[in-house]
Amino acid sequence: MAQNRDQWGSKLGFILAAVGSAVGLGNIWRYPYLLYSSGGGAFLVPYFFALLTAGIPLMILEYGFGHKFKGSTPMSLARANKKWEWLGWWPSLNSLVILTYYSAILGWAINYLVFSFTQSWGADPNAFFFGEFLNLSDSVFNFGGFRPAIFAGMSVIWLCNWFICYRGVSGGIEKLNRVLLPTLIGIMVVITLRGVTLPGAAVGLNKLFTPDWSRVLDPKVWIAAYGQIFFSLSLAMGVMITYSSYLPEKTDINNSAFMTAFANCGFEFMAALGVFGILGFMATSQGVAIEEVAKQGVGLAFVVFPKVFTLMGPLGKIFGILFFVCLVFAGLTSSVSMVEAFSSAVIDKTGANRKKVVTVTAICGYLVGTVFATGSGLYILDIVDHFINSYGIVVIGLAEAAIVGWLFGTHKIREHVNPISIYPIGKWWDRMIKYVTPAILAYMLVQNLIAEI
Ligand code: PFF
Repeated sequence: MAQNRDQWGSKLGFILAAVGSAVGLGNIWRYPYLLYSSGGGAFLVPYFFALLTAGIPLMILEYGFGHKFKGSTPMSLARANKKWEWLGWWPSLNSLVILTYYSAILGWAINYLVFSFTQSWGADPNAFFFGEFLNLSDSVFNFGGFRPAIFAGMSVIWLCNWFICYRGVSGGIEKLNRVLLPTLIGIMVVITLRGVTLPGAAVGLNKLFTPDWSRVLDPKVWIAAYGQIFFSLSLAMGVMITYSSYLPEKTDINNSAFMTAFANCGFEFMAALGVFGILGFMATSQGVAIEEVAKQGVGLAFVVFPKVFTLMGPLGKIFGILFFVCLVFAGLTSSVSMVEAFSSAVIDKTGANRKKVVTVTAICGYLVGTVFATGSGLYILDIVDHFINSYGIVVIGLAEAAIVGWLFGTHKIREHVNPISIYPIGKWWDRMIKYVTPAILAYMLVQNLIAEI
């Protein structure tokens, strides 16, 4: 068993690292699209509901659990009850799987960062992205050619992942987040301010905020809202349990959980404003309907945005660079959290040295990740992402809430966090964890299974 557990240098360092894990590709690239396609302003109703009924309660649970048991996810669960250890390996492995494709997308972003200096995506960014860049094959079974550029981008990311986690919690992860997170927020503020003041921005913002109330009754929209809250807050991945296990004895857990959740959702919302301002500009200047530009999914960051940067003239180069720097920084602070969640579990289990474990983890993740640098990479990515989001996260979230709610006892976590927190949590929290969160997650699971048939 590992002795002398690493610790954050300060509470601020921990908050920055936790927000760094939460703020990632999911905020800049997934959320704006989801908000638009799930009813615009009306999506905010299920979204905030999900934040209050699952996001914040589970964040308090994960922080409280990690802080109380001072271990990675499997170790913390084993300390609560020896029989539960295996359950802790699940989220840790889940984060490793996500990491393999997450790093590939970051590899794309690094390439696009380089491209944005010369706008080398040319006049047709769509053909460039799917053709020349991804070289998308005709099916998932046809791996097509190996993509050296994507592989090179991924290699840079894996090298960073390895280097940061190799240096440890306070010397690596905390230092990285202290620099990258404030820079990231600063850049995003600039992009958003420019985005909402571009000619035609109002068209995008109107579209975004014109609520389609009929969608609020659609279960799929609710499922999407819960899925986004889990993914975006890095919940049910072992990350938050692991990060809070490095906290000093007396840390305000409740306040930290609220701060992380609101900072992440605030950032996400700001990104949506900027993105939709930019989409409005794009739609107006091209004379096309905003629906056409907003429904791109993956293509939003890698097709629509490059088009916009070209349209913006000389300033577009600067904005292109800033945007892809933002994407890389946001993704990097998230990807190191996934490496840490898994490595920490192995370190706790084997007592092996951090440097060795991080090195082996990075090599394995890197090797598996090469499959995403082939012509069928995008197909495989979609399949893995679908299973992780529809089942992995939901089942683990459900297991977490059920175990703490029904077997371990919510009062034990509440009694642990309240004396060290300025604002105590009341019985409402127990009820959320015992009844509301598991009921909603079970419903999501059933709906996802039905949709599969
Ligand atoms: N929260 C990150 C995002 O929104 O992009 C994604 C993420 C981070 C997923 C950490 C999983 C994880 F363990």
